[in-house]
Amino acid sequence: MITFDRNSQTFYLENDRMTYAFDIFDESLEHLWFGAKIGHDDLNYLRGVRGSGCDAQQPDKKLCPNFLANELPVYGQGDFREPMLTYRTEGGDLCAELHYTSHRIIAQPALPGLPSTRGGETLEVTMNDDINGVEVLLYFTLHADTGAVTRACRIRNVGSHTIRLLRAHSFSLDLPRNDLDAISLYGAWANERTPERTPLHHGVWSVDSKRVSSSSQLNPFVALATREATETSGEVWGFNLVYSSSFRLFAEVPTTGHTRVGGGVSEFCFEWILESGEEFCTPEAVMVYSDRGIGEMSRIFHDTYREHLIPERYAKAKRPLVVNNWEATYFDFDRDKLFAIIDASAGTGIDTFVLDDGWFGVRNDDHSGLGDWFVNTEKLQGGLKPIIDRCHERGLKFGLWFEPEMVNPDSDLYRAHPDWAIHSPGHVPAEGRNQYVLDLTRADVRDYIVRVVSDILENHEIDYVKWDYNRNITEVFSEGLPAERQGEFAHRYALGLYDICRRLVLGHPDVFFEGCASGGARFDAGMLYYFPQIWTSDDTDAAMRSRIQYGTSLCYPLSAMSCHVSVCPSHQTKRTTPYKTRADIAHLGATGYELDVSRLPAEELAQIPAQVADYHAMEKLVLEGDLYRLAAPFDAGYFCFELVSKDRSEVHVTLMRLLKIFNCEALYLPLQGLDPDALYENTATGERLHGSTLMHVGLNPAIGNMRDFDTLTWHFKRV
Ligand code: DGJ
Repeated sequence: MITFDRNSQTFYLENDRMTYAFDIFDESLEHLWFGAKIGHDDLNYLRGVRGSGCDAQQPDKKLCPNFLANELPVYGQGDFREPMLTYRTEGGDLCAELHYTSHRIIAQPALPGLPSTRGGETLEVTMNDDINGVEVLLYFTLHADTGAVTRACRIRNVGSHTIRLLRAHSFSLDLPRNDLDAISLYGAWANERTPERTPLHHGVWSVDSKRVSSSSQLNPFVALATREATETSGEVWGFNLVYSSSFRLFAEVPTTGHTRVGGGVSEFCFEWILESGEEFCTPEAVMVYSDRGIGEMSRIFHDTYREHLIPERYAKAKRPLVVNNWEATYFDFDRDKLFAIIDASAGTGIDTFVLDDGWFGVRNDDHSGLGDWFVNTEKLQGGLKPIIDRCHERGLKFGLWFEPEMVNPDSDLYRAHPDWAIHSPGHVPAEGRNQYVLDLTRADVRDYIVRVVSDILENHEIDYVKWDYNRNITEVFSEGLPAERQGEFAHRYALGLYDICRRLVLGHPDVFFEGCASGGARFDAGMLYYFPQIWTSDDTDAAMRSRIQYGTSLCYPLSAMSCHVSVCPSHQTKRTTPYKTRADIAHLGATGYELDVSRLPAEELAQIPAQVADYHAMEKLVLEGDLYRLAAPFDAGYFCFELVSKDRSEVHVTLMRLLKIFNCEALYLPLQGLDPDALYENTATGERLHGSTLMHVGLNPAIGNMRDFDTLTWHFKRV
């Protein structure tokens, strides 16, 4: 709950495990604590310690601003650390002076035009800069059930002169220690979200994207961890932005004994004009504290996103079990090939056929057609209807691929509206995958996209949409914006995208949407607000997937990861892994198939019903369970995930061996999160063991018999 102690002027956001506390001090908001649950004591004594090292160059205030642990640091008055907000007045002044005015506790408000979590309790604090005519509403939201705290703010020009926002971050806080590690997720196409850990030193460390998408290079997620923190122990603070455009997250270790952490919209090329009466709302930042290591941090994120972010209707609902034709055919398909895939899928347990790229315009490769969302009837005689009918006759649902934000120069859309493609004047726009990005900052472009995609959705029986996005934006310029507002482009693009998603995705609630961006280049909490699941990576090789799914799970739940079984040798890595392994790894997410079922060897086709049955037996754990990462595929010879039901009555373990080390190998796998006193039965063998035995002695698989990339799975139920 959220409370305010009048005596100490302290706000507390807390649940039974965690306290987030700050007070009103000298009209500023002084950060006091974000960590384990503590009593409501007067934490004034912290201030004395912090202020004691006051540096001689500081102006003489009650506490040097450079030492204040501040919830809303701004430039001016002597705080030389990274600010949360910076704005310039018409007269050119950069000095901001925001003081506390009032506060209230309300039901969590929606953020205008932006995705955000829902269902929390919010503390709204109003801060005013009377000299410059700026008002800032700070939102601190508590999701008491999970312990996540979120932050966002609205910056209003309440004066009569223009204000130029130069930095508008979502949050800032100063943790009272300076010996932390930073954990981030770096990557590339087909190799997304690898965890990387680095000790913080004095100075500023940051991750960002300048691509107008959250990117596969660096995810908008950062964790700070005590040096000794592991997967299962130690203190960890996780930060994630509910945002899909250019961002920055940083950690700064100044010489004050703190670590300042903050971030939000990237300040790269950013400038936002606020005329009198206008306001800017930042994206939401989700903040999680764990005193049980990185694993517990992840579980809090997972619960928060399943309970408060992902569309409620789908968050825990059974997912379509698809066969997608991309790796089966790429662009080279016709009606008969698709019929063959549909026919072969019927009766296997696969319940949805998804037609990927290439069904529209003149699209026989990736050089043309994007933007022309009209069925290519030369390729697909009779249009989509015969394919949809065939699916229905065979008991399957039908899904369709779109890339609504893009246009090929070789398309009717581009020939009619070349100005709709993002470009900067006088420059030849850079192509990426032979395509341009449409300017979603423009209302006419957004209306066109909504109209053509709605037409297809409303005139066909479509149950599922895969929404792709295959290049980054290289020119941050819009013909629709005046020169002085070009700095607004990257954020306006996100607002445009969210507007389209609101109209198309939320406007078609019966259609299930999957996100995608050249694989997982826009795998973020902003997109998860609209899309219950996202294609995790174009790399479907099981060994690579174990790494990518492991990294992604640091912040995002398994149910958000779309994971498919594909053929071997892998199209991406050329590696061959066992068929069972590919299924077992794909089962650790929203599973499906990405291969030509009609050309599978008979014995592999025959195994699909059993694989689907295996998945259904563990699906509830994927959708709702707690994840324990027992072994990481980066540094150990194994990958191991354990999924436990919320009531601890059921547990599923998947172990994959990576490269075999000859001889001298033994593996004890203690499980986690079980009821120590309960008896669990192995559903395959009938063997019974207590939770305490499983958690201390553990499993002891005969790994000597496992070949490289073999998997073993266990499923236990409480007796
Ligand atoms: C990139 C996606 O990640 C793939 O799954 C596929 O849909 C292709 N685009 C199609 O162009």
